[in-house]
Amino acid sequence: MLHENEINSIKQNIEEEISSCKDMKGLILVKSKFIGKEGILNAYLKKYLKNSELSNENKKSIGFEINQLKDFFNLFYRKKISAFQNKQIPTDQIDYSIPVSSAIGNLHPLSLSKEYIHKIMQEMGFIYEDGPSIEKEYYNFDALNISKNHPARNEKDTFFINDDVLRTHTTAVQIRALESQKYVDEFRIYSIGDVYRRDDDSTHLPMFHQIEGFIIDNSASISTLKGFLLDFLKKFFEKDDVEIRLRPGYFPFTEPSVEVDVKFENGKWLEILGAGMIRKNILSKYGYKKGFAFGIGLERITMIKFGITNIHDLTDNHYPWLKQYGNSTEN
Ligand code: PHE
Repeated sequence: MLHENEINSIKQNIEEEISSCKDMKGLILVKSKFIGKEGILNAYLKKYLKNSELSNENKKSIGFEINQLKDFFNLFYRKKISAFQNKQIPTDQIDYSIPVSSAIGNLHPLSLSKEYIHKIMQEMGFIYEDGPSIEKEYYNFDALNISKNHPARNEKDTFFINDDVLRTHTTAVQIRALESQKYVDEFRIYSIGDVYRRDDDSTHLPMFHQIEGFIIDNSASISTLKGFLLDFLKKFFEKDDVEIRLRPGYFPFTEPSVEVDVKFENGKWLEILGAGMIRKNILSKYGYKKGFAFGIGLERITMIKFGITNIHDLTDNHYPWLKQYGNSTEN
């Protein structure tokens, strides 16, 4: 147990220091001095817990006393805050003529797109699944047939964090969802999230976003995949005359695989997604038969939808630029 004198002197210090605070800033400093992680009370606690001569019983009661001191601190702390709040500003000191801005923020184009995609996917019967940004190599690579010596698995393309990676695609979520065995028969899953690659130039960001989706369905085929993608893109771009073209592609986890381009208003084609029939060895491992998957670049389709030409505008955080995509008002 702590000595009574010790407890009283800590209490006295707390009272004195709190009452001499003149403003919130000072009060917050006093708070971290006493009950912060590195504060006086935790230092006490550590000191006693480390002392091997003390019995466990004794350590327990010291812990209890220190918690009581923290409560004591909080009581005075809260009283002081109320005292600050009740201090009235004399009305003759309020200047009602100072102009205030009524500007309110608006959502970033990527957030607008994301919200819109959630709505579309849910209307199309998809269920949302999430996965971690720091991913096991197993989910990001191995379980997707990306072998140990695949070029994507080197330090030049992928960010490694100890034994894990910053996920290079949201396809990792596919494996997590299949493995969970939460879904049976026919179902549709999607995810939206951040992905990372060692790329940084005029058309690439090292962190970008993908929309991943897959449909497990016994009648799934490349033509139902194409039909689905066209439906999705028409809804997303809010127009009927969306044109896409499928080119043969290669992904270790889909066969056949396709890369999909969408036609820009100026007649140029831009690649926006990869897709394909999920490979049999992946599906059968979890007891499923047939399905297709797709991964869409969120930045790409957002740029097309909002007519943004420079990908770096998306990360510059430049308020006048951002403002044009919302309906915020400013005096
Ligand atoms: N994961 C692939 C990529 O990042 C895209 C993809 C997803 C391809 C699903 C096929 C199926 O490029």
